[in-house]
Amino acid sequence: MAIVMDGNGRWARKRMMPRFLGHTQGVDAVLKIVRACAERGIDYLTLFAFSSENWKRPQEEVSGLMELVIVAVSKYLRTLTEDGVRIRIVGDRSRLSDKLRAAWDEAENLTRDNRRITLSVAFNYGGRWDIVQACRRAMLDGVAPEALDEATLSRYLALSYAPDPDLFIRTGGEIRVSNFLLWQTAYAELYFTECLWPEFGEAELDAALADFARRDRRFGMVKDAPAPAPAEPLESA
Ligand code: IPE
Ligand code: IPE
Ligand code: MG
Repeated sequence: MAIVMDGNGRWARKRMMPRFLGHTQGVDAVLKIVRACAERGIDYLTLFAFSSENWKRPQEEVSGLMELVIVAVSKYLRTLTEDGVRIRIVGDRSRLSDKLRAAWDEAENLTRDNRRITLSVAFNYGGRWDIVQACRRAMLDGVAPEALDEATLSRYLALSYAPDPDLFIRTGGEIRVSNFLLWQTAYAELYFTECLWPEFGEAELDAALADFARRDRRFGMVKDAPAPAPAEPLESA
């Protein structure tokens, strides 16, 4: 499952609070949803926490978000580890501060052997960035153009260790992908809800899962069609 956690700023504004408080409430929602997903048997959860484009926000908001991550990691890492959560960070780390990079490294190292659920945090992530960095690394590895196929390129994508999401959720009411998992959502079921991220809890998660359970996934095939008959030779010899 993948989630675009959107609507923190509007949640705060509705309450006449600074946007930053929306982000701190958003962290609480993350903890609740990670646990709820683990309880529901979801093995891989990918959360969009900071996009390649979010640098264009006011500088105080950007630095506030970075600081919030550092504080949240130090505050909640132990609980997440005890809950069996394996944390992976996906995105371009080169632009992050040393302190933030160290916090993410610690989160990954400490939880590396956990197996209950894999939580991938997309941070300074963009779907286009991911495809470009994958191509670049494939070329550096000497993959020949004629050897480059979908399976090969997939191995160079940041989420190569995780299956493609079956369900893609976006909170906050916008009906767009905003440069999240462009490659991996080829056949994901999309679910959009007006619910703002800080208010997204177990009931909303269950509503999304119930909606997903009603979808008819065809993957390009025809439903209930008989299996294709074995090919007959056109002329008998
Ligand atoms: C999503 O909430 C969190 C991040 C992008 C970090 P927003 O901050 O985008 O909230 P809205 O969309 O302004 O309400
Ligand atoms: C997408 O939300 C990014 C994250 C949730 C991290 P945005 O709020 O940045 O997306 P736009 O600007 O509405 O497309
Ligand atoms: Mg937003």
